Amino acid sequence: VKSAAPSKLDFTPISPVNYTVDEFTVPAGFSWRPIIRWGDPLFHDAPAFDGANQTPEAQARQFGYNNDFSAIIELEGSQGRKAMLFANHEYTNNNIMFSDAEMAADPARIRAIARAAHGLTVVELERKNKNAAWAYVKGAPRNRRFLLDTPYELTGPAAGSALLRTNDDPSGRRVLGTLGNCAGGVTPWGTILSGEENFNGFFRATGTSAQDKRYGLADKPTGNGWELDDPRFDTRTPGYENEANRFGWIVEVDPLDPTSTPKKHTMLGRLKHEGANVHVAANGRVVAYTGDDERFDYLYKFVSRDAYRAGGTAADREHNKTLLSAGSLYVAKFEGSSPAAEVDGTGALPADGAFDGVGQWLPLVLDGKSAVAGMSTEEVLVYTRLAADKAGATKMDRCEDVEPNPITGKVYVACTNNSNRGKAGYAGVDEVNPRALNRDGHIVEITEDGGDQTATAFTWNLLMLCGDHTQGDTVYFSGFPKEQVSPISCPDNLAFDSKGNLWISTDGAPSGIGYNDGLFKVTLDGAERGKVEQFLSVPRDAETCGPIVNDEDRHVFVSVQHPGEEGSFAAPNSYFPDYVPTGTAAGTGQFAGPRPAVVQILPTAHAK
Ligand code: FEO
Ligand code: CA
Ligand code: CA
Ligand code: CA
Repeated sequence: VKSAAPSKLDFTPISPVNYTVDEFTVPAGFSWRPIIRWGDPLFHDAPAFDGANQTPEAQARQFGYNNDFSAIIELEGSQGRKAMLFANHEYTNNNIMFSDAEMAADPARIRAIARAAHGLTVVELERKNKNAAWAYVKGAPRNRRFLLDTPYELTGPAAGSALLRTNDDPSGRRVLGTLGNCAGGVTPWGTILSGEENFNGFFRATGTSAQDKRYGLADKPTGNGWELDDPRFDTRTPGYENEANRFGWIVEVDPLDPTSTPKKHTMLGRLKHEGANVHVAANGRVVAYTGDDERFDYLYKFVSRDAYRAGGTAADREHNKTLLSAGSLYVAKFEGSSPAAEVDGTGALPADGAFDGVGQWLPLVLDGKSAVAGMSTEEVLVYTRLAADKAGATKMDRCEDVEPNPITGKVYVACTNNSNRGKAGYAGVDEVNPRALNRDGHIVEITEDGGDQTATAFTWNLLMLCGDHTQGDTVYFSGFPKEQVSPISCPDNLAFDSKGNLWISTDGAPSGIGYNDGLFKVTLDGAERGKVEQFLSVPRDAETCGPIVNDEDRHVFVSVQHPGEEGSFAAPNSYFPDYVPTGTAAGTGQFAGPRPAVVQILPTAHAK
């Protein structure tokens, strides 16, 4: 086993921070600063953020709410001084964005603001030199907001299907808007992928069909209430029965071309996509791994029909932008190596000393043709969960990010938690999901057979069982001493540094181990394999998302989502990131409450 070269991003791990503390905490020698916050104006005609007097028109020209995934793409020829930032806006927390009086006075106006706070943002960044902090550029020509009236092109075998047509779109190929965007990835050709996750929550539906039930679509008022304003958010409306089928896809955006039409790729299936990450296999085909973040749902892999072109010309890039439209879709089946009786639900290791085994990628669509008896290709892609049920896939503990290590090719799956595992009426434990009532989550490590990313068989083992052993949790860190790791719970998003170390951001630690969520470095190779070190901690009630680790520059970026979510407008739980203590300062751009933001962490000497 080769030992990774030392990283330039040396740090002394921080101590875990109690869940009641409203602070952003970084290691000694580092500083943090927001790059862009909810409400920051993106265009020359965009008004400054005014938290007491927000309007739908202003919000549509400003950075949206609850940024989850983030990506930074440096612009060629800029000597590292210009970049495009992508962020998505998953949902809103109306209870902390608006006063009770405002919400009571004009709920339709509040809903319109909330709609404009969803979607995507692309914004240009600049900095003085490669060491300096980034700042966003208001009014840059490539800045873009993607809103609910932005058209998306459906691609792949289900595009045009009768299952995707509505009154507004008889072609079944053109969808307005994207919803519930969670994690994502940057493709080798420089576009951004973003996963439409909990789309069901935006729709009222009949709720009686097997398909509606399997996707959590129900006949009850939604929390957002948009069905009161637009008939397409109520699929009981004649002509809009299929509207919810047009969400739940992997979206691809070209951040360099503000006139481009973003895509929704039906070839990667319809599910509650956490995100997708692409790897170029040795044979040139591209592979995209994607998880369905629901208790007892599945892990998927797409393999392209066509090969990646590495030439780097404009024509090569246009070709590569078609790769996610044709190929094969698989779902994972795991088999343990140990007798079932040795997996007792506590997290104790089986007698062979490892949670491990083999696995298969079961075909759902092969070369564009359905591989599932009784379902057409279009049905498999639109109702992918039902196809995977038929195929006999393994029910997982909520697959969040799934990401191949760019150095080793091994694939890492963040299983965030599963409060129902092993409960009466639910699936019991197995070797790949070995803890009952899994509160803290675990990480699966997959090695594709022959190191071939397009293989249909693999071996696997668990890298870690998360938790805090000082609170009595049964944990496992690939044999590394549990006394020497930072406590960690609910792994969500993954990233790698240039040395192949794994970085994990978490979502849900406060309600489990009682610490604020954070970002953690995990050593994968050598004597310290399994060592977990906490790099940062986010403020109260927030989730850590979208980590980017540029270890050569010693720069780290995270998305801080839903800070202060458990508080109220009148009594905020968080004042992140401006920490304006009291009162709303109208017209000052300051807001006495939390603002989700993308944050840069850098050496203090560079932060000046
Ligand atoms: Fe939006 Fe699976 O987290
Ligand atoms: Ca075993
Ligand atoms: Ca997530
Ligand atoms: Ca999560």
